[in-house]
Amino acid sequence: MQCTLLGMTLPGDTLDYTMVPRHILKGQHEWELSKVSQENWIAGFWPGILWYDYSYTHNPKIKVQAEKYTDSLHFISQLPAYDHDLGFLMFCSYGNGYKITHNPAYKDVIIRTADTLATLFNPKVGTILSWPREVASKGWPHNTIMDNMMNLEILFWAAKHGGSKHLYDIAVSHATKTMEHQFRPDYGNYHVAIYDTIDGHFIKGVTHQGYADNSMWARGQSWAIYGFTMVYRETKDKKFLNFAQKVADVYLKRLPKDYIPYWDFDAPDIPNAPKDASAACVTASALIELSTYVPSKSGTKYRKAAEKMLESLSTSHYQSRNINNAFLLHSTGHFPNHSEIDASIIYADYYYLEALIRLNALQENKSLLLE
Ligand code: GLY
Repeated sequence: MQCTLLGMTLPGDTLDYTMVPRHILKGQHEWELSKVSQENWIAGFWPGILWYDYSYTHNPKIKVQAEKYTDSLHFISQLPAYDHDLGFLMFCSYGNGYKITHNPAYKDVIIRTADTLATLFNPKVGTILSWPREVASKGWPHNTIMDNMMNLEILFWAAKHGGSKHLYDIAVSHATKTMEHQFRPDYGNYHVAIYDTIDGHFIKGVTHQGYADNSMWARGQSWAIYGFTMVYRETKDKKFLNFAQKVADVYLKRLPKDYIPYWDFDAPDIPNAPKDASAACVTASALIELSTYVPSKSGTKYRKAAEKMLESLSTSHYQSRNINNAFLLHSTGHFPNHSEIDASIIYADYYYLEALIRLNALQENKSLLLE
């Protein structure tokens, strides 16, 4: 038996809400599901997609499913921090859910999770320890990955909605230190920054998911564009806005003709390297927001670039259509690990939907963000 939800066929005749879609590998047709857990950073995207769907369609059946999948992450808010991914996990699910329903129980979960994430902050360094497990396994005293910029949003939100003001300070400190150390002179970034815990100095930048330490891993650059745009939104500090533009400009300058990056801008086998549609989705969503914060000439540039990305993603080359059950094909998860290469991946679909909803809101002069 199979269940369908949002046009997606899921195995089984009743849904197991602790199992969420993760990817459809090349040549396969159905989503492979993965267990909701703290270690599974993608587990919030499926409930997040359902909330975005509900925000647009107001279909009560989708709301029921969004609630059930969101609830299945609740236990994560009661555990000590495993790593920085708490933001992806809980803000895409509970965050979107709260913005749409104003359910006070969701707010409590978000604030509790933000407090848990803050336990990873090292005041000597000034950033969150992204991967505690790598301290022993890799001998990195303190590591901060670019993806962690995305997880500052839950801290800002909690500080603004009844949580500790300290959460705001942590987010600003993290963004400032990341801006100062985790970028090369061309504004490409190191995926991982290693810091000393005695005096907090930056030791070195390395890669984890990119081609090389000094290469520009596409999704890492997308996280940076999105992250610094969001930090500007929350702080209104122009240094973050200027920085978001620099980080976006190098990405745009190096894009191939179809506006969808190769998985790493420095992959040696370009133009035969796999693409990463997920990076394009994250960037498109970020650029739509960025376009609203800058003077009109730059705003038009960013908006047009985002539109080109979404047009490209919406062609038969990138959309899954009748090939499989996802929205999009051609994302790359972890190339050096040989995993999820040229696949459909849940976070590509999440940010694609977010970008389309934002573009629609922009065209209708409405707020881009869920309120
Ligand atoms: N945050 C993990 C990734 O971007 O693959």
